[in-house]
Amino acid sequence: MAFSNEIMAWYSRHKRDLPWRRTTNPYIIWLSEVILQQTRVEQGLPYFHRFVSQYPDVVSFASADEDEILLHWQGLGYYSRARNMHRAAKAVVQEYGGAFPTNYEELIKLKGIGEYTAAAIASFSANEARAVVDGNVFRVLSRYFGIDDPINSTKGKKRFLSLAQDLLDHQNPGWYNQSVMEFGALQCRPKNPACATCVLRLDCRAVNEGRVGNLPVKIKG
Ligand code: ADE
Repeated sequence: MAFSNEIMAWYSRHKRDLPWRRTTNPYIIWLSEVILQQTRVEQGLPYFHRFVSQYPDVVSFASADEDEILLHWQGLGYYSRARNMHRAAKAVVQEYGGAFPTNYEELIKLKGIGEYTAAAIASFSANEARAVVDGNVFRVLSRYFGIDDPINSTKGKKRFLSLAQDLLDHQNPGWYNQSVMEFGALQCRPKNPACATCVLRLDCRAVNEGRVGNLPVKIKG
């Protein structure tokens, strides 16, 4: 698949050195992914380091005082994320003896872990073949393939999810997933995408049809 190979080659050359990319520990990946929901990387980094040093494993997280966790969370907002994390950590200790699950079906049962986060943890920690679909992925796929189904419609979500799963590199699902997200964050940006220097520009439908500024489509509601 030209798309997947190009994007992984791009990632090898341009990826940022981020601490959660240096580990396959599902607990550490979970921490990073929940912190990064609705939070930019630069803003999330100090929180990530603080949580890893305060709570180096899921057992220490689960046994921490919830008020203390919320105090460390201060500034990130959406406090339900932190409360859900505490509940999920307790469940991991009770139900899995503190061994953080790495497979999608187990992960998605935990509080605060949805389809995106379960796919991220499963693919990054265990190379499970699950495509992640976040805002970056919606944007890259809608532009490259020229898909104008709204990303927040039922039909659109289904279409993007299925396309993402088809494009997934089965040799290296985790690497592929990181590649698409990083490409969306650095190259195929929401505003001012760097089309002039893009390795995919020749085959990008949005570029060829002058529709980059109109994709992805989102319906109001
Ligand atoms: N945002 C959410 N998950 C991310 C990740 N794994 N790397 C960089 N940015 C992210």
